[in-house]
Amino acid sequence: MNIQEIIAKKRDKRELSKEEIEYFVTNYTNGTILDYQAAALTMAIYINGMTEEETTNLTLAMAHSGDILDLSEFGTVVDKHSTGGIGDKVTLILAPIIASLGIPVAKMSGRGLGYTGGTIDKLESIPGYQTNISIEEFRKNVGKIGISLMGQTLNLAPADKKLYALRDTIAATESIPLISSSIMSKKIAAGANKIVLDVTCGSGAFMKDLDQATRLAETMKKIGELAKKETICVLTPMEEPLGETVGNALEVIEAVEALQGKISEDVQEVILTLGAYMIKLAGRGDDIEENKQKMLMQIQNGKALQKLKELIEAQGGDIAYIENLELLPKAKYVMPVVSIKYGYVKTLNAKNVGEISMYLGAGRIKKEDSIDPTVGISLKKKIGDKVEENEVLAYVYANSEEKGKEAVRQLAECYEIVTEKVEKQSSILKVI
Ligand code: URA
Repeated sequence: MNIQEIIAKKRDKRELSKEEIEYFVTNYTNGTILDYQAAALTMAIYINGMTEEETTNLTLAMAHSGDILDLSEFGTVVDKHSTGGIGDKVTLILAPIIASLGIPVAKMSGRGLGYTGGTIDKLESIPGYQTNISIEEFRKNVGKIGISLMGQTLNLAPADKKLYALRDTIAATESIPLISSSIMSKKIAAGANKIVLDVTCGSGAFMKDLDQATRLAETMKKIGELAKKETICVLTPMEEPLGETVGNALEVIEAVEALQGKISEDVQEVILTLGAYMIKLAGRGDDIEENKQKMLMQIQNGKALQKLKELIEAQGGDIAYIENLELLPKAKYVMPVVSIKYGYVKTLNAKNVGEISMYLGAGRIKKEDSIDPTVGISLKKKIGDKVEENEVLAYVYANSEEKGKEAVRQLAECYEIVTEKVEKQSSILKVI
């Protein structure tokens, strides 16, 4: 077997065997197959696609390319993952709610590449919070308090790490077999028994329309079935950012406020739906509406917020910053974006808002880049909201006056305001 033949086969639209896929994954991970050869094969997959069987074989080969975390001591572990969005602080809110119901949350996440950091980066805006704890400590926290959120220290799915970085450089990201194998390989390696996926759809997501998002969801569900990891996909819109804030410390503040009961409608609906299915998969309740009520109760009685504080304390963070959010580090400039006309917000392009937050320093392009936890955007008006002339649409948080002014100018352009009334979009598109 050699890589040239494998590339030629996929180039000519033929199906790759399990052995050929394993040969590629093993030898690309160990460096025998070179980046330009992997790039040629990846582009052939991007253009010609893969069958369900090929996609599952690629997923399993990537999952087994490194360590596999064994979480069986905790019983059924349900993991949650998003295909990516702007302003996605879901895990920060959802994980403590689920853990407060006695369902174990053992989550190892990578750092974010893109418009803002990932969950791990956001948690690091809390002074002291350690994301690089040992596996022993991770297990101890899950055993003792029912939750741990840490960075990826094990060598989980290294083949995906290489391939994902490569795809990014050759414009081969938005491919259903490549995205689904990338996500599912990491979930399998991270020890999940069951998986709930937030499949985003819209300008700020990989999948731009509902048909594509449905196909991605069905593919991941099928891989889950073949890999014996029951999977449920919740399709959510990503035309505008989720919730009010985009940024790292800003999203921590929004998450804590949500656990205090001040939660925006779209975030609440997404959290409750994802969580209700996690509870169902954990075998703790089949009635989705009842599960949502159980979750709301954990917010109202303060137990979910208490669980977040236990997590932060167990991982070295200072909960004084959670008890008094004013203490969290702040950007030097807070600049308003003001509406020049009366009307209703028709569009607020999520991708553009993400790019502006990236420009302010909230995200990273390469994994070595550092991020600024304090910068970002707070959206006061979203699609469907009524706006008066001279009313504040949003605030820009910047550490450079020049960048802040430019961000204000660009953010004003992201808002399309019309005179006729605009309906708010539903926060859940469908469940698969
Ligand atoms: N998230 C991933 O982990 N991989 C992809 O390919 C896309 C989104």
